[in-house]
Amino acid sequence: MHQLWAVIAVAAAHGLSLARAAWVDTDTPRAAHSTFSLHTGQEYRLVMSDEFEKEATTKNDYTNAALHYYHKDKVTTTNGYLNITTTNEDIEFDYWDERAKRFKTMTKVYKSGMVQGWNKFCFTGGIVEVSAALPGEAYIGGLWPAIWLLGNLARATYTSSSDYTWPWSYDRCDRSDAEHAAHQIQQEISACDALKHFDMKPFTGRGAPEIDVLEAMPGRDPYSEFVVGKPYISTSFQVSPGTERKRPVLGKFPQPGMWYEDGIEYGKNTSQNLYFYGSKLIHDPPSRTYWADAISANHALSPTHFNKQHIYRLEWQGGAEGYLRWYIDGAFVYGMTQGTFNRTGAKVPDEPMYLLFNTAVSSMWGFPAPCPKHLHCSCDCWDARDSRCQCAIPKNMGELFPAHFLIDYVRVYQNPSHKSQHVGCDPESAPTAKWIAGHASYYMDPSDTTYEYPVPHGGARCRHGRDCGGGACVRRSCRCNEHWTGPNCRAPAGSDDQARIRGVKDVIKALLPPEHPRVPKALAGRYC
Ligand SMILES: *[C@@H]1O[C@H](CO)[C@@H](O)[C@H](O)[C@H]1NC(C)=O
Ligand SMILES: *[C@@H]1O[C@H](CO)[C@@H](O)[C@H](O)[C@H]1NC(C)=O
Ligand SMILES: *[C@@H]1O[C@H](CO)[C@@H](O)[C@H](O)[C@H]1NC(C)=O
Repeated sequence: MHQLWAVIAVAAAHGLSLARAAWVDTDTPRAAHSTFSLHTGQEYRLVMSDEFEKEATTKNDYTNAALHYYHKDKVTTTNGYLNITTTNEDIEFDYWDERAKRFKTMTKVYKSGMVQGWNKFCFTGGIVEVSAALPGEAYIGGLWPAIWLLGNLARATYTSSSDYTWPWSYDRCDRSDAEHAAHQIQQEISACDALKHFDMKPFTGRGAPEIDVLEAMPGRDPYSEFVVGKPYISTSFQVSPGTERKRPVLGKFPQPGMWYEDGIEYGKNTSQNLYFYGSKLIHDPPSRTYWADAISANHALSPTHFNKQHIYRLEWQGGAEGYLRWYIDGAFVYGMTQGTFNRTGAKVPDEPMYLLFNTAVSSMWGFPAPCPKHLHCSCDCWDARDSRCQCAIPKNMGELFPAHFLIDYVRVYQNPSHKSQHVGCDPESAPTAKWIAGHASYYMDPSDTTYEYPVPHGGARCRHGRDCGGGACVRRSCRCNEHWTGPNCRAPAGSDDQARIRGVKDVIKALLPPEHPRVPKALAGRYC
């Protein structure tokens, strides 16, 4: 049983910028230093980019002009791409068994990668543009690639940090009825609380909402119950509080007056996602109820999305006139406004959020569901190499490996005339640093000694000066000048917020098997 799930190499973007330009990759063409909102026509300026043009100088770490990722071997930069590889191979690792109170060894059979900018590069509002070719094949299930944003109060895959913060985007105290009240108790930082610590303001609700730029699903799987036919991506906003008693039946269109209607718009080839209205999960212990709505659309793709670069764009503006809008190659896909949430009182996020790129492997996405009983074979193993597992896995899944999620660039733009848009993981408007420091164990694994790692100042192995960005190669080791930092001196010095240096360690983070109560909630929310 212990072989499901991708093992995630969590990598971290590096450096918190006060000067916006510090995040901009010097390889970004001038013409891409500004963009116009496809919604309002206003001009936005580039505040962060990574073109992934610099090759990794050593296999295990690299620095790009503005971002630095510590990574395990499944995340590399090659040929101008951020390259997240997924393989079908055994990986053995230790994990903490809470019940036994000791480390145990587990073997999984897929290896993959995740890159996340938690506590390194965050932004509040703006435009995100990512050029990417999805991994795998349009008509073979098995991979779950995603590009998404998560509020900095939750460190993805560290479930204690997302418990009761994910995916709240709510700043009201409303306990008008029992059900709502019971639900709101699940908001850790709620507008009902007078006393606040760790920089939280009294009577102010906070949380870690989730915006999915995309989660890709391959086309028709002959066993799949969820016959959508074409490959598609889901674009979603996952948010608490959920609607009370107004959630439609899975697979069915909502009745009038149910669900979210106001301000929702669909582009061409896009329809309401009937297979994911969110989650009302009862965890163990049962007092842990995660009640989150997913306001989500599916947009049909063509095979070119799996082998060519396409441009995925999110426009995010908070506030009373706020909205979220998704585009592919400049064509409108899906949109919602602040008015969409008037009924529940949720908000378009105004939290600092960070970017994540990953390919997961999960029986909950693109896999046969439920297990086809008539085929009389095992549905409790998921190894594509093992003939006994063939019932449980998508047809021809083995052909996918190794798979590569190729991201050509990521660019973040903001509108300088919008005060609500800014860069930083600990902004005055929504601080996170003291909260994280005060709850450090939520953001760590039992084997970690800290969640903070100073960014190395030089030290990468080098052969030539050009391996060391803003520095020199001295006795085969990079030595940075005063303006640059990171192992390869490719991140601007001072871009870390002084005392709050928050490097993130290399970790191989295992997602725990489904029967385990600590399924990461940020992902668990997607399961329904
Ligand atoms: C992605 O990485 C894999 C393995 O590390 C490599 O074989 C492949 O050529 C890379 N793809 C590109 C386009 O660089
Ligand atoms: C919609 O799908 C059709 C058929 O696959 C395709 O030709 C067209 O470009 C798509 N349009 C958009 C906006 O996605
Ligand atoms: C949402 O609520 C605001 C403030 O009460 C109001 O101005 C706006 O018209 C509402 N929007 C919709 C779509 O109902």
